[in-house]
Amino acid sequence: VTLKTDLDEDLRHHGDAEVGAGLVDLAVNVRAGAPPAWLANRLVASLGALASYPVAGPARAAVAARHGRPPGEVLLTAGAAEAFVLLARALEPQRAVVVHPQFTEPEAALRAAGHPVGRVLLSADQGFLLDPALVPEDADLVVVGNPTNPTSVLHPAASLAALARPGRTLVVDEAFADTVPGEPESLAGRRDLPGLVVVRSLTKTWGLAGLRVGYVLAAPAIVDQLAAAQPLWAVSTPALAAAEVCASPVAVATAEEYARELSAERAHLVAALTELPGVIIAGRPASSFVLVRVADGPALRAALRERGYAVRRGDTFPGLGAGWLRIAVRDRATTDAFVTTLRELL
Ligand SMILES: Cc1ncc(COP(=O)(O)O)c(C=O)c1O
Repeated sequence: VTLKTDLDEDLRHHGDAEVGAGLVDLAVNVRAGAPPAWLANRLVASLGALASYPVAGPARAAVAARHGRPPGEVLLTAGAAEAFVLLARALEPQRAVVVHPQFTEPEAALRAAGHPVGRVLLSADQGFLLDPALVPEDADLVVVGNPTNPTSVLHPAASLAALARPGRTLVVDEAFADTVPGEPESLAGRRDLPGLVVVRSLTKTWGLAGLRVGYVLAAPAIVDQLAAAQPLWAVSTPALAAAEVCASPVAVATAEEYARELSAERAHLVAALTELPGVIIAGRPASSFVLVRVADGPALRAALRERGYAVRRGDTFPGLGAGWLRIAVRDRATTDAFVTTLRELL
């Protein structure tokens, strides 16, 4: 384990900066090019109410019911990204620790709010799997992703639960939890763990990155603290409509079906990548993207761009270097064409 406080990476770099006209997007982890028709129709129907200020109650109740919790344990946010800013603004951690490699916005938000941030770096040799003993005992705020972006590794719920204790806020970023069939390692329904904050996103699976919608699940006192830091009406009426409908049993069943399809497509991509010389997959991918190590990441990424493919650079993630690239799981035809190109370049 390494605890670092220096900043070598561009924490504010994200996959959306890597896509562009004429490029097949394997860099952004949003599932579809557009939300499904039933969801888009619901968004359109919500436009008639735009003259009124947003009312969060029905969405809050629907999300609470979806996770078997009371509405007072739910806060709708403008994407998971807003939740990280609210946490950074509302809490006053003396020793915040972020488990890396992971999505960089939680650390960026904590730093922007003036908090020092320590890092626990999980190692490729251990398959990027969380060992709770690596987290310093005196950490009073711990942030960990599950499944983790960019490693795609799914940590056991027991490892995460072992990090919870009185006097500590444990933030589990579950932005990609719904990409895992059955969500077996999710803590979203756990009400017994002290200081637990689960952050969820609706932008990935539902193709709603531009709408900005997600939510926090936590004890009422934490939810109230975060709500007090949130701007008024931060979540728009269409975003609330999306949250309400995406929490319905039919939508949850649809997400489950998507997750099962995704698992098959990911297995196909992983099998193809495993065949390639000089491509290493560290850890067991469980989400909608796969992290690989190659001999010369920057050169390969540039060559792929020349050939029409945008993959996500790995070097802006703490704990990874230039040899790492993240590849989104897409449909079989896209994957096959991509792997053919990759094989030629290698
Ligand atoms: C792990 C992780 N958490 C949260 C987010 C932010 O999601 P949202 O679009 O809901 O703000 C992302 C976006 O890339 C992510 O990768």
